[in-house]
Amino acid sequence: MTEVKATNIKWHEGIAQEERCGCLGCRGCTMWFTGLPASGKSTVSTALEHALVARGIHSYRLDGDNIRHGLNKNLGFSREDRAENIRRIGEVAKLFADSGCIALTAFISPYIEDRDRNRKLHEEAGLAFLEVFVDAPLGVCETRDPKGQYKAARAGKIKGFTGVDDPYEAPPKPELVLKTDELTVEQCVKSCIELLEKRGILRR
Ligand code: ADX
Repeated sequence: MTEVKATNIKWHEGIAQEERCGCLGCRGCTMWFTGLPASGKSTVSTALEHALVARGIHSYRLDGDNIRHGLNKNLGFSREDRAENIRRIGEVAKLFADSGCIALTAFISPYIEDRDRNRKLHEEAGLAFLEVFVDAPLGVCETRDPKGQYKAARAGKIKGFTGVDDPYEAPPKPELVLKTDELTVEQCVKSCIELLEKRGILRR
């Protein structure tokens, strides 16, 4: 649990979401992509970001490898560090969503508890949290191995690698499941857009 050190602070209320959305013509939300390394989280969320921006929709992707170059460069891959990584991203994504943006997050986020905490954080703020399980079998992810990390993990050169010697907890009730070993990237993007339309985030 995060130690709370901030005391003597008071929340300052801002403008209502309806007011902002009325001006922007789009509701903010967070689409939370989770899955094994090399399951396709970054590929699908990048293609979705392109598709949304091409429609004039304000969308921004937060990506595990990229965020770990900056904001989260002081975090590793222990249970505690992964929890803090996901906690920070949940807070950042919530800010993006609150600003009227469609925030896309592409993190392994292997633990149900950490993802559910972020769902709660969004729901308490009246923001939609759409969990997308990027579901490819371990064998397929391992065959793809675009960065050679599964190979390195099997050889003992990376310790605690998700799917090899660290756990991945699949979401029991995600809003969307994308079987990336059966679908094309375009089909995955289409499913995401349909979900956003169904939830009233995007106009049809
Ligand atoms: S998470 O588990 O905390 O959600 P995150 O998505 O931010 O992980 O980062 C995953 C990326 O870090 C992978 O794409 C991979 O390039 C790199 N990485 C380095 N070490 C590990 C590890 N032990 N387990 C998983 N990914 C790792």
